[in-house]
Amino acid sequence: MRTQVGIIGSGPAGLLLARLLHHQGIDTVILESRSREYVAGRIRAGVIEQGMADLLREAGAGERMDREGLIHAGINIAFDERLERIDFPRHTNGKVVMIYGQTEITHDLMKAHIDEAACIVHYESPAMRVEGFDTETPRIVYEQHGEQKELVCDFVAGCDGFHGIARKSIPADKIKTFQRTYPFGWLGILSDVPPVREELIYANHERGFALCSMRSHTRSRYYIQCEIDDKVENWSDDAFWDELRRRLPPEAAENVTPGPRLEMGITPLHSFVAEPLRFGRLFLAGDAGHIVPPTGAKGLNLAASDIYYLSRALIAFYKEHRTDLLDRYSDAALRRVWKAVRFSWWYTSLLHRLDGDPLSRRLQISEMDYLTGSEAGRTVLAENYVGLPYEKFE
Ligand code: FAD
Ligand code: PHB
Repeated sequence: MRTQVGIIGSGPAGLLLARLLHHQGIDTVILESRSREYVAGRIRAGVIEQGMADLLREAGAGERMDREGLIHAGINIAFDERLERIDFPRHTNGKVVMIYGQTEITHDLMKAHIDEAACIVHYESPAMRVEGFDTETPRIVYEQHGEQKELVCDFVAGCDGFHGIARKSIPADKIKTFQRTYPFGWLGILSDVPPVREELIYANHERGFALCSMRSHTRSRYYIQCEIDDKVENWSDDAFWDELRRRLPPEAAENVTPGPRLEMGITPLHSFVAEPLRFGRLFLAGDAGHIVPPTGAKGLNLAASDIYYLSRALIAFYKEHRTDLLDRYSDAALRRVWKAVRFSWWYTSLLHRLDGDPLSRRLQISEMDYLTGSEAGRTVLAENYVGLPYEKFE
């Protein structure tokens, strides 16, 4: 089999890239290890920056998002029995974020790409390795129905997430990685109950961090900080709701509507960056190249900004025979990645129970008091949260 751009992974990064290239007449084939149902059912992110929303529209997959997504013009920060709101438009020249689940985005991209445009995604076809990425004909070796096959490409996009094989195909002396694992996790619940408040609440509490998020006016998503080795089996629905309430200020706690779980899961928190993101004709994008703790809601949005740069570079190659943007991809994408890695680390450190050390806690409270009480502090939080601008890339 042969294609122009072979894409490993049909998460948001892979699907978005395939859609944007298809619009320019560039052929792709996506190889995905899981089934379509499994990929469509994964519950993850919920906060979309304006840059990503614009890309989804460009990809012809923004219509339902514009109809059903919720525009949020601020977030709330709870600490020390206080609840402070950060107004986004006021501090960012009018920017906002969109609340629209990754599950819905994946569904919309699949519908546009597979059902409407009849483009090729091979599910249950795990890539095993990438070969010849320093030649003009890189190959993806993959498995399908128990047989080993090969996809020959002009370029390979490794959009196969943190545990994928694209990054692992690179010899260790050609790649540098940076990582941190945080000493706690997030226990999350999804439930068909109305959200506590119209906008998200990020709560710093002495019992640990809590986050009130949502998918719609009738579906809520909540997270509480938990022990790194905690298990879902340790938590009944009632125990979750009780612990959530304890960590919120009273005016929010009394608005919590408990309900049965649709899903409950535990997420570990990591920071990770691989450098560079380009190896000859193999490009890493999204979680394959970097991950951040979810506190800043940046992971999915970084996958989108990588695809913004990568799609433009590939389009310039096919339309104008230019290679300069391909050469600049890694640096441009990583500049934005590192800023989001820094923001996510900082915001995580600000909001979580660290080590029970009383001085660290007082410093957190003092920092939040400063941030929410100063125009400069509010601006720092708002402009990072709504998403830093994409660099001009043409
Ligand atoms: P993935 O979504 O991981 O997709 C990779 C795909 O590759 C998968 O489908 C996988 O099955 C496939 N694959 C893997 N190996 C192979 C192989 N060998 N062959 C073929 N296919 C393979 N981000 C935000 O921006 N905002 C948020 O609010 C937010 N909240 C989050 C909450 C939680 C609980 C979690 C866990 C994450 C959250 N994130 C958030 C992060 C976000 O979900 C990820 O950053 C995003 O999914 C990255 O997309 P991706 O396409 O790069 O990778
Ligand atoms: C979510 O709704 O899943 C969500 C929202 C904000 C975050 C992380 C996750 O920071």
